[in-house]
Amino acid sequence: MAGDRLSVGGRRNNIGEVCTPNAGADVARNRALWTMVNEQFTDEDAHRAWAAGELTWGLFGVPERDLVVLGDVRGLDVVELGCGTAYLSAQLARRGARPVGLDLTPAQLATARRCQERFGLVFPLIEANAEHVPLASASFDLVVSEYGASVWCDPERWVAEAARLLRPGGRLVFLTNSVLATLCVPEEEGVAQDHLLRPQRGLHRVEWPGGGVEFHPSHGEWVRVLGANGFVVQALHELYAPADAATHRYYGIATAEWASRWPVEDLWAARLTAGVMAPGSAPSGR
Ligand SMILES: C[S@@+](CC[C@H](N)C(=O)[O-])C[C@H]1O[C@@H](n2cnc3c(N)ncnc32)[C@H](O)[C@@H]1O
Repeated sequence: MAGDRLSVGGRRNNIGEVCTPNAGADVARNRALWTMVNEQFTDEDAHRAWAAGELTWGLFGVPERDLVVLGDVRGLDVVELGCGTAYLSAQLARRGARPVGLDLTPAQLATARRCQERFGLVFPLIEANAEHVPLASASFDLVVSEYGASVWCDPERWVAEAARLLRPGGRLVFLTNSVLATLCVPEEEGVAQDHLLRPQRGLHRVEWPGGGVEFHPSHGEWVRVLGANGFVVQALHELYAPADAATHRYYGIATAEWASRWPVEDLWAARLTAGVMAPGSAPSGR
C-alpha cells in the first residue's frame, strides 16, 4: 500500500502528499487494535446497536431527532468510512438511503455481515483503508464517519478522499472525540479529568500507550483541512451527555458526569462546494 513508502514525518514528499510518520505501521497497529476490540466488545454489542429503534450519536446517545444533522436521507448514496459493525449504515438503510460500509478490519466486517443476515438488511461492505478508497469519484451524496476515519485516519488524506467521493453539493458528517476531552484524558489509563493534561499546541497525531494511532486536530485545523478540500462548514455540534445518560461500559473516555459539564464529542457537518477553495478565499456557499 502507498503508506508503506511514506516515512518522512509531517513533510511533503516528492509527489506532493503530506506524509504521516510510519503510515503503514499505523494502519497495521490500528487493525490489530480493532480486531482485539471486536473480540472484547463490538462483536457482542453489535446486535443491540443494529436493533436500536432510534439513530443516536456518540457514547451517550444524543438523538438525531434533536440535532437533525443528517436530515432526510431517502434515496441518497452514502459511504461510511470506518463503519466497524456498520450499525450506522444499517440505520441509514432503514431510512431509505443506499449505504456502502468501508472498514480496515476483517473482524469488524465479519460481525457486520452476520448482522446483515440476522436483520435481513444487506448492503455492500468493503475492506479497505479510508485514506485510499477503491470507489469511483463523485459517486456519493453523503459521506459519514462515526469514530471511524474521523479518528483513525490522517485528516489530510481521508477528508480529501471524502471530497473526491462526493458529488458537488454532497455532504460530509463526522463524529469524533472533542478536542477538550483529548486534552483532559490521562496518558496511561483513566477517564477525562477536570483539568488539562496536555498542551493543545502541536496536538494532531496521538499515540496512546497500548492503544492505536489517532488524529485529533484542533477546531481551527479541521476548518482549514475542510476548506482546503472544498468544504463549507455547516455546523459543529459539541455534544454533552443527556441528563439521564450512564457512563459507557466499555469506552472509558469520560464519565457521564464529566460529559454533562463539558463537550465530550464534536459532530461536524460540511457541504462540498463546486471547487476547492484557495486559502483565505471566501466560501461560495450552497
Ligand atoms: C469505533 S469503530 C467505528 C465504527 C462504529 N461507528 C463505532 O462507533 O463502533 C472504529 C473503526 O474504524 C476502523 N478503522 C481504523 N482505521 C481505519 C482506516 N484506516 N480505514 C478504514 N477504517 C479504519 C476500525 O477498523 C474500526 O472498525
